[in-house]
Amino acid sequence: MSYKANFRVWRGDADGGELRDYTVEVNEGEVVLDIIHRLQATQAPDLAVRWNCKAGKCGSCSAEINGRPRLLCMTRMSTFTEEETITVTPMRTFPVTRDLVTDVSFNYAKAREVPSFTPPEGLEPGEYRMQQVDVERSQEFRKCIECFLCQNTCHVIRDFEDNKPAFSGPRFLMRIAELDMHPLDVADRQKAAQEEHGLGYCNITKCCTEVCPEHIKITDNALIPMKERVADRKYDPLVWLGNKIRRR
Ligand code: SF4
Ligand code: F3S
Ligand code: FES
Repeated sequence: MSYKANFRVWRGDADGGELRDYTVEVNEGEVVLDIIHRLQATQAPDLAVRWNCKAGKCGSCSAEINGRPRLLCMTRMSTFTEEETITVTPMRTFPVTRDLVTDVSFNYAKAREVPSFTPPEGLEPGEYRMQQVDVERSQEFRKCIECFLCQNTCHVIRDFEDNKPAFSGPRFLMRIAELDMHPLDVADRQKAAQEEHGLGYCNITKCCTEVCPEHIKITDNALIPMKERVADRKYDPLVWLGNKIRRR
């Protein structure tokens, strides 16, 4: 069964833009990205949209549908009624390049600020031994497809552009937590999380977790444990004493 859907799509660039109305054919089983492609093919050949896999795995097609951050390729048309108008806009937290494409380089800059896995000096390949429980803990975080929907959603940077330099966002605080939980990593991730990546800005609203297409429990399994680790360390009497002596 096919029908005609009402779409409202943001068209424009860094200098500004507007929502434009289109009526597009929809066939059974289609997702929003199919409709955007049909729109390109039939009415708006210059419509810019970023996508790659159409399977929810590359993280390229992130946008906002009816104001909700989502992957275009994983949002079924059957989740909407045939009568409703479906509004598609670019991610709001990042600068617009054109139409539905945003410049997500903020995220790559933040990624580069996190030093890679740091094993103890002199540890040779083959000497790595990990308990299964330690492997499993970080496995969940490795499912991240870097769609940056969590980054786009977090109010700390969505609503306060000025916080961007000081706050790395949930995706990268999760990466730091993953490294901190690694039994062989010796870098001081806790200090870095707090002082360089703005862990303290997160007030655990969990909006990031709600939009993650990989259903990673970002807040409960990465951010809250990381906050607890930082707090434990701060209030650990031995660490406190050590810091006092070092400061003298
Ligand atoms: Fe996307 Fe989830 Fe990774 Fe955030 S944690 S970038 S929402 S897959
Ligand atoms: Fe932002 Fe997620 Fe924390 S939405 S405030 S990083 S819980
Ligand atoms: Fe790859 Fe949507 S096109 S996640």
